[in-house]
Amino acid sequence: MISSRMDSLSSSRPGRVDSRRKILSVVGTRPNFMKVAPIVGALERRRDEFDHVLVHTGQHYDEAMSEIFFEELGVGEPDYRLGVGSGTHALQTARVMECLEPVLLEERPDTVLVPGDVNSTLAAALVASKLGLPIAHVEAGLRSFDRTMPEEINRVLTDAMSDLLFTHSPEAREHLLIEGREERTIHYVGNTMIDTLVAMRERIDARDAPTRHGLAAGEYLLVTLHRPALVDGPLLAVAAEALRAVAAQMPVVFPVHPRTRARLAVEDPTLAGTAGLALLEPIGYLEFLSLIAGAAGVLTDSGGIQEETTFLGVPCLTLRANTERPITESMGTNMLLGLAPERIREAPELLARVRERSNRVPPLWDGHAAERIVDVLGVQMADVFALARDDVPGR
Ligand code: UD1
Repeated sequence: MISSRMDSLSSSRPGRVDSRRKILSVVGTRPNFMKVAPIVGALERRRDEFDHVLVHTGQHYDEAMSEIFFEELGVGEPDYRLGVGSGTHALQTARVMECLEPVLLEERPDTVLVPGDVNSTLAAALVASKLGLPIAHVEAGLRSFDRTMPEEINRVLTDAMSDLLFTHSPEAREHLLIEGREERTIHYVGNTMIDTLVAMRERIDARDAPTRHGLAAGEYLLVTLHRPALVDGPLLAVAAEALRAVAAQMPVVFPVHPRTRARLAVEDPTLAGTAGLALLEPIGYLEFLSLIAGAAGVLTDSGGIQEETTFLGVPCLTLRANTERPITESMGTNMLLGLAPERIREAPELLARVRERSNRVPPLWDGHAAERIVDVLGVQMADVFALARDDVPGR
C-alpha cells in the first residue's frame, strides 16, 4: 500500500507551482539508489532550472537493503514511498504501476527518470508511457541477449518506451540503433554508479572495512550471489560446497542477500560454520565498496559489481553465462565463468590470471556522468519533448 504520504499528496507537493522543469525519478532497489544519487545532486545544484521529485517504490525495504543507502548517499528522504514490497514479478510490477499512477497524475513531471533494469524500472516506464509523459532511461542499451533473465525483459521494454536514452557503454548505442531507436535520442554520458564511487572515494578508503572484519588487504575473496538462475535451484548447493573448498585456501567473506539467505537455509544450513568463511548480513554501500577495494578478487553474479571492480582494477569472476556489460571483460578486470558454480574452486588461480591482464577504465567513467545527463535534460528536453508535452491529457 502507498504510505501515508499519499494521503497528504496534494498539500505536500502542490502540482505546478513554478516554471522550472520537473524531473521525477523512480527508484526501487539497492543498485538504483547509487545510480540516481549523483543525478539528484546535479539537479539540486541547478535548482533554479529544475525541480526534482524522488519516488521510492519500496521493492527493497529492509534497513540494510534500502534505508542505509539514503543515509549514506546523502539523497535525503524520498518524496513518496509506495511501499510495494516483495511478490511475484506480475504482482510487484502491477503494484508499482497502481501506486505510481496517481503520483504521476498529481505531479505531472516534465520527465520521468528511471535507472537500471529492475521491476520498478519497467513498471514506472509503463505508467509514464501510458500517461504520455516523457521518459529518460539511465543505463540504456545494455543487452545480455538472454530473455530468461527478468532484467533483460525490463531493459528491452524500458528502452522501447524511453524518449531519452542515457548510455555508458559504447555497444549500447549499437543495440539501440538496431532496435530502431533514433540516433538523436541516444546520449553517451558515462556511468552514474561510478560517479557515486568517485564522490565517495575518500569515505570508502577511510572506512578500512577489511581491517574491521579481521581481513588482510589483498588476500581475501569477496562473494555476492543473488540471481534466481543461481540461487533458486540446485546450483546453490554446488556453489556452497565450492566456497568451502576455496575457504580452505584463502579467506572468503560473503554478505548474503535475503533471497540467498532464505535458500541457503534450505540447501546448506551449515555453511555459516565453515572455517575461513564469513557469512554477513547485507551491508551498506561504503562498507561494501571498501571490502571490494581491499579484496584479492570478487566472485559475483551482480551487474553493477562487474563495473565497480573494473573501475577499481580489482579482479572479478562473474558466475553467469553471459553479461550485459561486456566492456568489463574486454577492457576491465572481469572474467565470465559461466553459470558453472563448480568453477568457483578455481578462483585463486583465475584471480591471478586476471591480475596479469592489462586493464583500463571505460570512456567517461570519470565521476561526471550525472552532470552530462542534467546538461542534456536542460538543453534538449524542450525540443525532444515538444510534441509529447502537447499531447499530455489535462496539461
Ligand atoms: C532485484 C532485481 C535485480 C537486482 C537486485 C539487486 C528485479 C527483477 N530484480 O532482485 O535485478 O540485481 O534487486 O539486489 O527487479 N527481500 C527482502 N528484503 C528486501 C528485498 C528483498 O527480504 O529489502 C527478499 C524477499 O524475500 C524477496 C526477495 O528478496 O522476495 C527478492 O527480492 P526482489 O526485489 O524481488 O528481487 P531481488 O532478488 O532483490
